[in-house]
Amino acid sequence: MSRIDELLAAMTLDEKIGQLTMVSAGMAVTGPVVTGGGTEAVRRGRIGSFLNLWGAETVHVTQRIAVEESRLRIPLFFAFDVIHGHRTTFPIPLAEAAAFDPDLWEETARAAAIEAAGDGLSIVFSPMIDVTRDPRWGRIAEGAGEDPWVTARLAEAKLRGLHGADLSAGDTVAAVAKHFCAYGAPTAGREYTSADVSERALHEVYLPPFAAAVAAGVVAIMPAFNDLAGVPMTANAPLLRGLLRQELGFDGVIISDYNAVAELINHGVAGDVAEAAALAIKAGVDIDMVARAYERGLPSAIERGLVEVTLIEEAVRRVLVLKERLGLFDDPYRRGIAGGAPGHEQRRVLGREIARRAIVLLTNAHDLLPIAEEIRRIAVVGPLAEANMLGPWAGAGRAEEAVTILEGLRSALANRDIVRAEGVSAGGDDVSGLAAAIDLCRSADLIILAVGETAAMSGEAASRADPGLPGRQRELCEAVLALSKPTVAILSCGRPLMVPWLTDRASAVLVSWFLGLEAGHAIADVVTGRFNPTGRLPVTWPRHVGQVPIYFARRPSGRPAAPTDHYTSKYIDESVTPLFPFGHGLSYTRFTLANLRAEPAALRPDGKLDIAVEVTNAGARDGQATVFLFIRDPVASVARPVLELRSFARIRLAAGACETMRWVLAASDLAFLGPDLKPRLEPGEFDIFAGESADPDRLISAKIRLTI
Ligand code: GLC
Repeated sequence: MSRIDELLAAMTLDEKIGQLTMVSAGMAVTGPVVTGGGTEAVRRGRIGSFLNLWGAETVHVTQRIAVEESRLRIPLFFAFDVIHGHRTTFPIPLAEAAAFDPDLWEETARAAAIEAAGDGLSIVFSPMIDVTRDPRWGRIAEGAGEDPWVTARLAEAKLRGLHGADLSAGDTVAAVAKHFCAYGAPTAGREYTSADVSERALHEVYLPPFAAAVAAGVVAIMPAFNDLAGVPMTANAPLLRGLLRQELGFDGVIISDYNAVAELINHGVAGDVAEAAALAIKAGVDIDMVARAYERGLPSAIERGLVEVTLIEEAVRRVLVLKERLGLFDDPYRRGIAGGAPGHEQRRVLGREIARRAIVLLTNAHDLLPIAEEIRRIAVVGPLAEANMLGPWAGAGRAEEAVTILEGLRSALANRDIVRAEGVSAGGDDVSGLAAAIDLCRSADLIILAVGETAAMSGEAASRADPGLPGRQRELCEAVLALSKPTVAILSCGRPLMVPWLTDRASAVLVSWFLGLEAGHAIADVVTGRFNPTGRLPVTWPRHVGQVPIYFARRPSGRPAAPTDHYTSKYIDESVTPLFPFGHGLSYTRFTLANLRAEPAALRPDGKLDIAVEVTNAGARDGQATVFLFIRDPVASVARPVLELRSFARIRLAAGACETMRWVLAASDLAFLGPDLKPRLEPGEFDIFAGESADPDRLISAKIRLTI
């Protein structure tokens, strides 16, 4: 009999439910703190895991109670939201996605795993792989943007980095892919509302990243808070037991979101906690995070015949298997180094590298950037110049260790005269400093506007109905722009901000997102030219919130937009094009693409397509281009999107150099979900596109024919 069989045979019902109970230690909560976790409950085997508790000493003290003082000595596991770094805070995921570099994504995950395991954690609640096309939703900050193919690649990279070579090793942690699913499509962009997407959208957009995570070996998944077409994900048996476990073959642990089991009552699908607990366990939710709903509800649910004990035992088995895979039975103290994992300073170097790579240069009129030598007096105004750049999920990151924008600029431009005034507050109505800030700007050679969102205005429970500049920041910007001086706007944000009035008029605009500990140095590296910007937008950047959702993989209309023709797909009060397309991002040099070739012109269903394109650095500086590869199937049994992303790649080119980039696509990469939502290949013509973004006017194309 295996260790797990023996334990299961020995466990009382309370001890079984205990293994399914995760309690928050209250060090950093993300929702209502229902109850803290007591040591007596651990001693009695009523708690199986903790979240929000980290630090080797604290973890080991708590673990010792479970392992040495409880009846069955089952080790706990400790989990935490390590979303973009642990002690070393990296850029938010949306910013990191802008690097379009799976190796770097893996590297930052590896660094986060080393630090998290060093603090005694075995599980981290990441990667967040919810595709979204709605900047009103605050959690757009936590994902990889609008495209399922990019998000799937990020999921794979993060799993490689977090899991390492051995999930039971002392420097690896288990990932929890979240939030399953369609959480990124909240009605009206408002947090926690229903997701009402079509079956097709579910299978084409929201599920693929989770399928990729399962194929890449994810061992835990978290259902989303939302209902999907009326069925809350926490009680969604068809998608959890059906699609995830049976169809995709996921055999890991499903951990509810914070208090979500109890919240089935609020959803209106459970009359009391026993019904809520029964629904969740029957749907396949193994661990109840924080609600204590399993503890409070399952015993009476069994008595009322709402659930069988065998379902509880199945869940306990999966939890014990996970603990075994994590090596916790072999050595419950394997993870946890007093003082944390060494190497924090080296990981800050990585933090600066990924931060630089995440910055997206949106505009740069007259090549104002990088800042020229003759610029001597620089006014840095705006409420974000000295703000916390760690972002909305900084976890164990310490704001006091972060480099602000102002500090970075002062450090990099020590020989310039940098003057500072906040001008207005980030939110609210305080404009008391506006006049003084403008006075300061009058004598400056260059003005840097540090504006945007604070970390609290982004992330979970931070949906914005009108995602422009918060508070009265626009007044500061307008007053600065009225001076008609060279002006650089640095946008700190967790989402696209709809500020066409700023991007049209400032000399240069760059998106600094929330870049983590090294934010200030990374921004200074870019504006001084020490680093030639390489970031590209992982989301389409709307002009106006009324355009949302706006994304490149849209389906064609029966009446494609023709602004001069009234009865076509358009607005009468706004353009149909985005402010900046997916993939947009300027460099201090410029690239041209030519001679796109796709061979063979007649592709067989079992064949491969060789694609090549020539890329030239036509500017005067070395730089890095990012090239995206799209396909289009203009005629199929289902209307296909006008662009579907199939790959991206980066290339570094010296000034004046020209090289050929190559891809190989399998014919299966041209497949799609037919009317029956089953994958199919259909013969006919296909367009292949290459470009530095999804801007249709800047793509080059080639045609091929798929034969059957
Ligand atoms: C939060 C989030 C989830 C997080 C969990 C634990 O509400 O939805 O992403 O992992 O609670 O903090």
